[in-house]
Amino acid sequence: MRLDKFLSNMGCGSRRDVHKLIAAGAVEVDGAVVNARDAQIDEDRQRVCVNGDHIPYKPYVYIMVNKPAGYLSSTEDGAGPVVTELLRGAYSSYKLGVAGRLDKDAVGLLLLTNDGEYLHRVISPEKHVLKRYFTILRAPVTGADVDAFRTGIKMRDGTVYKSAELTPADRAGEDGKTVYGAVTAISEGKFHQVKKMFIARGNEVLYLKRLSIGGLRLDPALGAGEFRELTPAEAQTVFDDPEG
Ligand code: URA
Repeated sequence: MRLDKFLSNMGCGSRRDVHKLIAAGAVEVDGAVVNARDAQIDEDRQRVCVNGDHIPYKPYVYIMVNKPAGYLSSTEDGAGPVVTELLRGAYSSYKLGVAGRLDKDAVGLLLLTNDGEYLHRVISPEKHVLKRYFTILRAPVTGADVDAFRTGIKMRDGTVYKSAELTPADRAGEDGKTVYGAVTAISEGKFHQVKKMFIARGNEVLYLKRLSIGGLRLDPALGAGEFRELTPAEAQTVFDDPEG
């Protein structure tokens, strides 16, 4: 693999950032400084260091993104900006997929990975990975809504949404008026599921943010549009019980 590609894939920065590191003599391969960005390395056998720190080769990467509104949960060109553009060139030669999409207008926790088996497990309905969403609603949640979500909802088109946990979470808005909020936990990932469940109850989602996937919560240090790589152990917490 090319040295610059290796470094940007390992999270050392965009291609432009790593070109600067290489030009500055900060990069060593097997103990010798390498100044050629297109130098070929054997990532399985050779030892690459940046400023003396060893950069181990990772075949799989797991990236947490705080998705802003307006981005498509896609890794290929689409009608509008796609979430991989937020990575600004990092991880560019990993074939990343989205482990559970969010709508274009939705925000919050999004996971990208090139680990196909992991991705499949996260989105598989059989695994019952619980996803939590904070929503702002047009109207307040009623006790009957909580019961209906708990029972499960059948739509007119025959679609069935399984039992979900609905918790009212109203807050005071800046103008002092109540903002009708709720946290919904679902174990499926059907298209527009949370929005449709509220539509079925005569309500409307005005804002939707994913807070967690299983035991993995959105890192509060990540601003909208920011991302960070997860350790493999952190990535596995999506399969942990969120209450545990
Ligand atoms: N439910 C929705 O309606 N939209 C999302 O993006 C995720 C869950």
